[in-house]
Amino acid sequence: MDTGDAMRIAVIGAGMIGGAVAKALSEAGHEVTATRRNIEKATWLMEYGVKLERSNVEAAKRAEVVFLAVKPNKVGKVLDEISGTIENKILISLAAGIPIALLRRKAPTAKIVRAMPNIAILVKESFTAYAAEGLDGEEIKLVEGLFSTFGKCLRIDEEHMDAITGLSGSGPAYVSVFLESMVYGGLKVGLPREIARRAALQTLLGTAKLLMETEEHPAEIRDMVITPGGTTIDGIFELEEGRIRTTVMKAIDASTKKSKILSTRLSP
Ligand SMILES: NC(=O)c1ccc[n+]([C@@H]2O[C@H](COP(=O)([O-])OP(=O)(O)OC[C@H]3O[C@@H](n4cnc5c(N)ncnc54)[C@H](OP(=O)(O)O)[C@@H]3O)[C@@H](O)[C@H]2O)c1
Repeated sequence: MDTGDAMRIAVIGAGMIGGAVAKALSEAGHEVTATRRNIEKATWLMEYGVKLERSNVEAAKRAEVVFLAVKPNKVGKVLDEISGTIENKILISLAAGIPIALLRRKAPTAKIVRAMPNIAILVKESFTAYAAEGLDGEEIKLVEGLFSTFGKCLRIDEEHMDAITGLSGSGPAYVSVFLESMVYGGLKVGLPREIARRAALQTLLGTAKLLMETEEHPAEIRDMVITPGGTTIDGIFELEEGRIRTTVMKAIDASTKKSKILSTRLSP
C-alpha cells in the first residue's frame, strides 16, 4: 500500500485517463471498479486487479470515492445517472473545463474535487492539480494520498484550472512534439533512429531533473551550455528565429481558452 487504508473506488469512464487512474490506484492496493459502455475494451485492466462493471450506478453505489473520467460533454448525463448513489461521498472529476459549480448542481451533497492530471500517471509521474469544495482536512489528506499514487499533486484555486489544463494537462502532447522534433533533427544529421531517440529522451529527462534539483532558472542552465562562438548558440539562433517561445506560449494560451470555452458552454 502506498497510502493509508485500502479504499473502495469507482472509476467511471475507463478510457485513456480513466484506465491509467484505475491501474495506478489498483497497483497501490485500493479496491478499484472501472466502468465504460464498451467494457470489453477495458479488459486489459483486469491484469492489474481492477474489477470491471457495466453499470455506473452499481460501481458508484459500492464505492467510497468516485472518479469521473468521461469526456466533458458526458459529465452531466453520467451525474444524473449516479447522483443518488454518491451522497456525502467524495467525487473527483477529471473532466477538462467542467467547473465545481456544475458538479455541485448535479451532485449537491457530494464532496467535490475537480482535478487535472496528465497521462504520465501511467509511469507515476503525473502533475495533478486540484481544487476542492466541502472537504475537511482528513478528506483532503485522503484525496492527496490517492493523487500521490499518480505522481506529484498540488492544491490550487479553481480559477487556475483552465490554465493548468492548457499547461500540464495537455503538456505531454507538446513535449512529445518537441521530442519528436529532436529525434528528427538527429535523423537529419545522420544518427541511427534508436540512438537519436535515446539521446533525445535522456536529454529531456536529465534537463528536467537538473532544473528541479537545482531550482535554477532555465536561462541559467541554457547559459551553462552556450559558450561564445560555440556550437549551441548556432542552434539557439535557429530556435529563436523559429519563434519557439511565442509558439509554445500560444499553444498553452489556445488550450487554456478552449478549456474556458468548455466551461462557459457547459456551465449552469
Ligand atoms: N487524455 C488525457 O491526457 C487527459 C488528461 C487530463 C484529463 N483528461 C480528461 O479525462 C476525461 C477523459 O478523457 P480521455 O482522453 O481519457 O477520453 P477517452 O479515452 O475517450 O475516455 C472516456 C471514456 O468514457 C467512456 N464513457 C463514455 N460514456 C460513458 C458512460 N455513459 N458511462 C461510462 N463510461 C462512458 C468511454 O468508453 P465507452 O465509449 O466504451 O463508454 C471512454 O472510454 C476528459 O474529460 C478529459 O478532459 C484527459
